[in-house]
Amino acid sequence: MSVTPVTITITGAGGQIGYALLFRVASGAMLGPDTPVRLNLLEIPQGLRAAEGAALELQDCAFPLLHQVEVYDDPKAAFRGTSHALLVGARPRAAGMERGDLLAANGGIFGPQGEAINAGAADDVRVVVVGNPANTNALIASAHAPDVPADRFTALTRLDHNRALGQLAPAMDTPVGDIRNVTIWGNHSATQFPDVAHATAAGDPVPALLAARLGGVDAAREWIVDEFIPRVAKRGAEIIEVRGSSSVASAANAAIDHMRDWVHGTTGGWTSAAVVSDGSYGVPEDLVSSFPVESVDGSWRIVQGLSLDAFAQHRLATSVAELVDERDAVRALDLI
Ligand code: NAD
Ligand code: LMR
Repeated sequence: MSVTPVTITITGAGGQIGYALLFRVASGAMLGPDTPVRLNLLEIPQGLRAAEGAALELQDCAFPLLHQVEVYDDPKAAFRGTSHALLVGARPRAAGMERGDLLAANGGIFGPQGEAINAGAADDVRVVVVGNPANTNALIASAHAPDVPADRFTALTRLDHNRALGQLAPAMDTPVGDIRNVTIWGNHSATQFPDVAHATAAGDPVPALLAARLGGVDAAREWIVDEFIPRVAKRGAEIIEVRGSSSVASAANAAIDHMRDWVHGTTGGWTSAAVVSDGSYGVPEDLVSSFPVESVDGSWRIVQGLSLDAFAQHRLATSVAELVDERDAVRALDLI
């Protein structure tokens, strides 16, 4: 076991996702059974008591890997020395709030957090933004951390990826673990494009398996376009409607999957993550967009060379246009 604990910062630690994340991270679910951890919990003053309560419970779990828990309301202190930052805390959309207001409110959070990461985080820091609008919040944080390579800032679309797997498995009567190479493209929003064109189940192409089960290529295409894509893309809204509040445990689980694969690598195909575009697939450089990615030697790499038909190109362009609008809005607000 490595002796020096790794510092992990979790923002919004007193909130719902924070509560679902902390205990799994402390148990070793994210970095594995050989990595002791030190948790820095960041909250705003209103959330401090909840975070402090969670810290008491963490102590009561006596996790062997957990060396220390600190609760902060100062980003500079919370990010000092951190090598893994999970940015969960965000300003939710309130009634009557326009999108520009939401972006401005979140700029007030992710700008200073980016600065704090720039000032004090470890050189090898990895950042995943969960708080919405996640892609653009990651862009804002990165813009405020000029000394940190932009590829260290990512946003979470693993939840969308996992949701896609969860829909495909019963549709093909296949174990979820047999499915490979699904892609979420674009924004973590209803415009995202969940793409199964290159996916396989136990080595067989998913489109062909769906056609065999649903009675032909046209029926499979209809299911993909009219049921699968909207179900995955609007799953967040469905959860809010059914549960009465947004997804929590599945979001925390996805954040753990994202960080674990980033650190330990992907095997057996690719996953999805929102990373800074290098211009691949025509996505403008510097946008934080979801791509098919593999984690190799501790870095995300965009999978190259996939063919996109006219439908796929249109869906990707639609989501990218939304990301461009969000970027332009935060630029106009001087947030980047
Ligand atoms: P929540 O309201 O229960 O918790 C958010 C916490 O963040 C609160 O305790 C709040 O005090 C804290 N907070 C606010 N501003 C902060 C700041 N500047 N610094 C530190 N903490 C701050 O919300 P939740 O259910 O935990 O969801 C958190 C975010 O995750 C929301 O933006 C939600 O929309 C988003 N989300 C994203 C995904 C995804 O897949 N990307 C999925 C689900 C939810
Ligand atoms: C989700 O995908 O579940 C969330 O991003 C939904 C939301 O608006 O919080």
